[in-house]
Amino acid sequence: MSLWDLRSDTVTRPCAVMRKAMAEAPVGDDVYVEDPTVIELEREGARLLGMEASLFAASGTMGNLLALLSHCQRGEGAVIGMRSHIFKYEAGGMAALGGIMPLPVDDAEGLPPLESFLSLCYDGRDVHQVRTRLLCLENTHNACGGRALSPEEMEPLCQAAREKGVLLHLDGARLFNASVAWGVAPARYGSLVDSVQICLSKGLGAPVGSLLCGPQELIMKARKWRKALGGGMRQAGILAAAGLVALRSRIDRLAEDHEKARRLASILRDSAVDLMDVPNGTNMIYFRLPREGLETAFIEACRSRGVLVGKAGPALIRIVTHLDVPSVAVEEIGKSLVEAVQSL
Ligand SMILES: Cc1ncc(COP(=O)(O)O)c(C=O)c1O
Repeated sequence: MSLWDLRSDTVTRPCAVMRKAMAEAPVGDDVYVEDPTVIELEREGARLLGMEASLFAASGTMGNLLALLSHCQRGEGAVIGMRSHIFKYEAGGMAALGGIMPLPVDDAEGLPPLESFLSLCYDGRDVHQVRTRLLCLENTHNACGGRALSPEEMEPLCQAAREKGVLLHLDGARLFNASVAWGVAPARYGSLVDSVQICLSKGLGAPVGSLLCGPQELIMKARKWRKALGGGMRQAGILAAAGLVALRSRIDRLAEDHEKARRLASILRDSAVDLMDVPNGTNMIYFRLPREGLETAFIEACRSRGVLVGKAGPALIRIVTHLDVPSVAVEEIGKSLVEAVQSL
């Protein structure tokens, strides 16, 4: 029996084209900034996001951390969504390593309400308060169901941050899903913020890596932080080569993942599965089980039917479509999921 893995789009494996590119990549020592393939990847990332420069990092978590460490000084504050990946799932790196104070804000709709953000903008003149240095946004927003935010939705908040002298970082682990969903160039998002982290290893299918994109000065600081964190890699062109294939030929394909997710959602909805309602959804589906405590049984019921799914919270399940789940398998996967729900 084939096992379809829908736990995440991070499970995608590099295809033959990527493996060939990796095997043939010209390389050098990237700590000396001499790896031509890494340099090419960083140029391509910066170009796509409309930024001056970019830096290859080992993971999305590292890319976000580099941004936080480079934008903020110890004791400064960063406004950050309570449901955001950086706040919930990045091991508190900003506080542990940067001494940066998270200023959590409600982001249930994918973006913090303007008023909530403004109430956390401290200029630091009052001795009791931190100085608010940074606002972090996430797009697509993972815990909000993979919701794609349009540039127009983000604009008022970005404008307000600028007026307050607050810098902006975008966790764009899946920004290309958003740009494909809205039909806008990634650079349109880049124009709204001071830095963007994009992941190569999710829906784009590269095995490893992220890029932090931003102005030259920020990227120079991030390069130093990357070294301090032990993330200076040597012949990293082997990895960057796969990233180049990802950026050059895997972005438009993301629309297929969105279509597969829509189809799966409609199969589940037709069988009265309790789906999370997500405006402008992309490649994720979240749904609720009848009650808490059923997660393990449900995950096992799916596995025994050839589908791997992930627990996203109490009574909450997440499935993610990606390039290793072919469209032709979607009906069968949908049927297995419905059967697993009915088996509870
Ligand atoms: C929104 C978001 N940001 C950042 C990350 C971190 O990426 P990585 O797993 O490469 O550290 C993830 C990972 O799933 C994510 O979903």
